[in-house]
Amino acid sequence: MNRILVAPSLLSADFGNLQRDVEAICNADCDLIHVDVMDGHFVPNMTIGSVVVEPISKIATRPLDIHLMVENNSFFVDLFAYLKPKYISFHIEEEKHPHRLIAKIRELGISPAIALNPHSRIEDIEYLLPDLDMVLLMSVNPGFGGQKFISNVLDKASRLKKIIVEKNLSTVIEVDGGVSNKNITDLANAGVDIVVSGSYIFKSQNIKNAIDSLKVIKN
Ligand code: DX5
Ligand code: ZN
Repeated sequence: MNRILVAPSLLSADFGNLQRDVEAICNADCDLIHVDVMDGHFVPNMTIGSVVVEPISKIATRPLDIHLMVENNSFFVDLFAYLKPKYISFHIEEEKHPHRLIAKIRELGISPAIALNPHSRIEDIEYLLPDLDMVLLMSVNPGFGGQKFISNVLDKASRLKKIIVEKNLSTVIEVDGGVSNKNITDLANAGVDIVVSGSYIFKSQNIKNAIDSLKVIKN
């Protein structure tokens, strides 16, 4: 598809009305549902485990995009695998054996992805690119919704896209944090394929209009 795919982040949903909000984003034609899993160790916040994601997966009519922000990646991959998400992303900063974990995720029938914090270098994951279906570039420091977009990610995404094209790979680039209608054109021009957006979508007057405003044509 030649437009940006939109993955609303449930972190900004109303956790007292999760069913209502999951149905709202699916009815508004989102492309993926982004689920932020935080363990209170890798990031200074905690969210949800499979006990809550399981009912979400039953309501959802779009694939799940699970973003692990945890210390023990392998344990959490095992915890969520039975829910058959489309993607599981883990942070490179927290993984001693990324190659092994990528292979494990793929063997489970899930698309493996690596997430990079704003300070992490794309050079550190370049050798892993042929084995990855997606790279998640953080445009905020992970842990919370509603933070300011760090615009350095645009240059990082452009450089990563160049490498992916040069190597003739099909790895997609996802950007997560502070995404809104204000930066979506720049993200599209940088070669980004998927955007995660939480507060912009869930705090808008009209969820469908907000999602539509991010579905721009890619470079
Ligand atoms: C932050 C999370 C993001 C966050 C995005 O650690 O990974 O997915 O929910 O929220 P916004 O769009 O509000 O920055
Ligand atoms: Zn996320």
